[in-house]
Amino acid sequence: MTDSSVFYRSRKPYPTAVRGEGVYLYGAGGRRWLDGSSGALVANIGHGRSAVAEAMARQAHELPFVHGSQFTSDVLEEYAARLTAFLRLPGFRFWAVSGGSEANESAIKLARQFHVERGEPERYKVITRVPSYHGASLGALAASGMGARRAMYAPLMNEAAWPKMPKPDPRLSGEADAERLRAVLEEAGPETVAAFICEPVVGASDAALAPNPGYHARIAQICREYGVLFVADEVMSGMGRCGAPLAVRLYQEEAGGDLNPDIVVLGKGLAAGYAPLAGLAASPELYATVMEGSGAFQHGFTYAGHPVSVAAGLAVLEIVEREGLPGRARAQGGRLLAGLRDLQGRHHAVLEVRGHGLLLGVVLGDPTTGEACAAPGLAGRVAAAAWERGLITYPGTGAVDGVRGDHLLLGPPLSITDAETDELLAALDGALGAG
Ligand SMILES: Cc1ncc(COP(=O)(O)O)c(C=O)c1O
Repeated sequence: MTDSSVFYRSRKPYPTAVRGEGVYLYGAGGRRWLDGSSGALVANIGHGRSAVAEAMARQAHELPFVHGSQFTSDVLEEYAARLTAFLRLPGFRFWAVSGGSEANESAIKLARQFHVERGEPERYKVITRVPSYHGASLGALAASGMGARRAMYAPLMNEAAWPKMPKPDPRLSGEADAERLRAVLEEAGPETVAAFICEPVVGASDAALAPNPGYHARIAQICREYGVLFVADEVMSGMGRCGAPLAVRLYQEEAGGDLNPDIVVLGKGLAAGYAPLAGLAASPELYATVMEGSGAFQHGFTYAGHPVSVAAGLAVLEIVEREGLPGRARAQGGRLLAGLRDLQGRHHAVLEVRGHGLLLGVVLGDPTTGEACAAPGLAGRVAAAAWERGLITYPGTGAVDGVRGDHLLLGPPLSITDAETDELLAALDGALGAG
């Protein structure tokens, strides 16, 4: 569109979307796509739910905006109480922002401030994993173990502040896998480490990779031992997408009850795309330390706790609870995973399928060697073939070494039906066959 004034994300041509309904998006010419990735794993309740639109309109009429340094609002108070109850995080405090990157920036700063307030100002490093994705803003990007997205901005980052731990290894027991954190802590100097951040089920950087049971409980234990905060980035995996309110508790029987990270970071499915909304839930101890210490979180955004976004979040949460969407994610996820296993049997470019609930990954590679392709591109080609067949997927590269490794992330709205799941699988079958 040469006559456009829009700064597009890339030079490819973009179709114009005009309407969304359920799992479908409609283009200007009447074309229809099945949203097999909920955008970027966002549209958890499906498109076009008028109850959410009406709640937002009511809020915009009544109280569209207040600044977080001056007011709270009824809608924010109610939402924080209902959200922390849904997540079973009693006593936790919810800090609302506009996107996952802002939420991770907030988590990093809160972890740092907590240690300063406690009289341990030497703690500032944040250990993260490779690969991982925590956001696009510079702090969240520095935390991210994603070579390709990071490389250009590396001169702006202090690498020493972000020690990296290897990704989960499914060949190890969850406990042995988690124990590898000790070596990273010792190398970094445990007395200098403020926090460890991970995605309980990895999203965009490594297609739904998850550790074995016992991993997160042991991580939480090691973090406690070293006085390091455990931050679970559930921006993608949380809010029911993996079949439970929080993915970090997927194996909570093994953990012997509720496993509470010190900070849980949320986004995407919170308002399911109806409004920009993300945030963090901080443990009672963290909140008390800041409030009884200097008395204020040294951080803030103009749109933090925006009433219209929060009203969208509240209406979405009501739907998630009323329709039992975490349970639906488990059921439909099982159906989709079984269908993907069937595709794996017929398409040798599918090396692995995995995931939890409706956060599923399809690892692609060279059908003759069964290894990652020498050059990336396969995921993009399969995603393009799926797009032509009316299916939206979320392709990614670089999980093996930052460059090699192709995958697709699949994550339709949690409200998807059996027939729509079968339609998704048929389109993907065709796309894999076209490659
Ligand atoms: C796990 C995780 N954290 C953080 C982010 C960043 O969120 P946002 O794009 O809303 O800033 C993402 C986005 O994909 C994500 O998947």
